[in-house]
Parts: sequence; C-alpha cells; structure tokens
Amino acid sequence: MIFTIILSLIILSPAVLSAPVAAALDVKSLASISRTNLQTLASRLPQRCSVSNISVPLEGQAGLAVPAGQTVSTIAVGRGVQNYTCTSGAYVSAGALANLFDVSCLFSMSSGFVDPQTVSGILPKMAFSSLSFPDAGRLPVAIHHQFVTTPGSATPGAISPEFATTADKVVVSKVAAAADPTDSAVNVPWLQLAAVEGQGTLSKSVFRLNTFNGQPPSSCTEEGEQLSVQYASMYWFTS
Ligand SMILES: *[C@@H]1O[C@H](CO)[C@@H](O)[C@H](O)[C@H]1NC(C)=O
Ligand SMILES: *[C@@H]1O[C@H](CO)[C@@H](O)[C@H](O)[C@H]1NC(C)=O
Repeated sequence: MIFTIILSLIILSPAVLSAPVAAALDVKSLASISRTNLQTLASRLPQRCSVSNISVPLEGQAGLAVPAGQTVSTIAVGRGVQNYTCTSGAYVSAGALANLFDVSCLFSMSSGFVDPQTVSGILPKMAFSSLSFPDAGRLPVAIHHQFVTTPGSATPGAISPEFATTADKVVVSKVAAAADPTDSAVNVPWLQLAAVEGQGTLSKSVFRLNTFNGQPPSSCTEEGEQLSVQYASMYWFTS
C-alpha cells in the first residue's frame, strides 16, 4: 500500500511539477515578464487588444514626435536583418527584412502595473536571444517588414520600407532618425516613418524604437560585398 503510494507519487511528480507552467500568464510585474521566454510570452497573448490609450515611449528622442491626432493601433516586436553593401570602404544600408510579432495585448494587460517604456525596452533583447531570423519559432508573424521599389521614384534601384499583413500594407518614408541612446555603434537608429500617400492604409506612422544590434562594422574592404546583420527592435504603429 505504502509502496503503491510512493510509486504513484513518483509517476505523478512530473505532471505536478509542470503544472505552474500552464498557469495564467502573469504580465503584471517586470520580473514576471522578463523571466518568461519571448516565444512563450508572445504565443500565449490574446490578440486584438486596444492600445489607443498608450503613449509611444519616445523617451524624449529629439526630432521624433507622434503627429497630432494619431493614436497607437498596434505594438509589435521585430526580429530580422539589416542589409548592407560595401561601397567605397563603408557599409551602406541596402534594406532590411524582418518578422514582426504583435504584442499589443502585453501592453494593454500590463498597463497600470508596468511602465510601457520599460516593457518596450526589454522586448527586443528578449526577442534577440529567443529567436534567430528568419526562424519565427512557433509564433504567428503578424506583419512582414521588407523593402520594395520606391513608388514613383525616378532613381534606379531606389527602395522603400514596407510593412504588410495578409489584409493590408503601408509603404513608408523616413521623417526623422535619432541615434540609439544606449550604444549607437551597435544598435541601429530609432526612426519615425510616415505612410506614403496611396500606398496602403495599415498605419499613418511607424516608429522603430528600442533597437538592439543591426549596425555594420565601421569599415569594409571588399567593394560590393553584401552583409546582413541580425537585429531586433520595437515597432509602434499609429493611425
Ligand atoms: C537581405 O538579406 C537577406 C539575406 O540575409 C535576403 O534574403 C534579403 O532579400 C535581403 N533584403 C533586401 C531588402 O536586400
Ligand atoms: C487603457 O485602457 C485599458 C482598458 O481599456 C486599461 O486597462 C488601461 O489601464 C488603460 N491604460 C492607460 C495607460 O490609460
């Protein structure tokens, strides 16, 4: 009898130990968010939360501002590559490719408990360590970020950033850039991008914030060499 009880305890224990993993997602403290793997966190978030009352955490970056009347529509964490071509001894930007994962509900659910600016600051680091582009793990890609031929441009080879869902897209142009406040030699600049007229209605503005990695080495020697540098960042969409 005692032997049977001990045996069943041994057999049951893995299930007992794994039970807390299935507990409700706790997003009400920074510690609980940061100790959860990004894939686990993002895969267990509900979708379609309103984030229109959350402010874009621009952290006073000079030149970056949300245009009057626009509110946040989607908050995503992006994981991808920044591309460069070696041109006259320096790596020149040649577009980017990234998967964006919708984390809007993390912001609405943690609102009032954890500062959105702090959450925005940790997610790219979490995404960088948990995923490697182009692998999306088991997360649905909400928005694909790529570059397309600049609409209406007379300059051969001109490309522009595009953000696309299955239903809509937006092609954008740069309004302003600000050096990353943590380490501008390693992390790509923060950006404010504006929708190009007639090129989709996904959003009116896109802000690339809290960048992590993506900068190329400071010089290159092989003319025409192409380089892809892994990066992660936050993308805040406003409409
Ligand atoms: C960027 O480089 C990747 C390979 O790392 C390539 O698949 C992609 O097409 C490139 N994108 C652009 C816009 O150059
Ligand atoms: C935004 O609204 C949600 C509910 O709609 C609320 O839970 C949250 O606290 C609000 N956040 C802010 C920053 O006002």
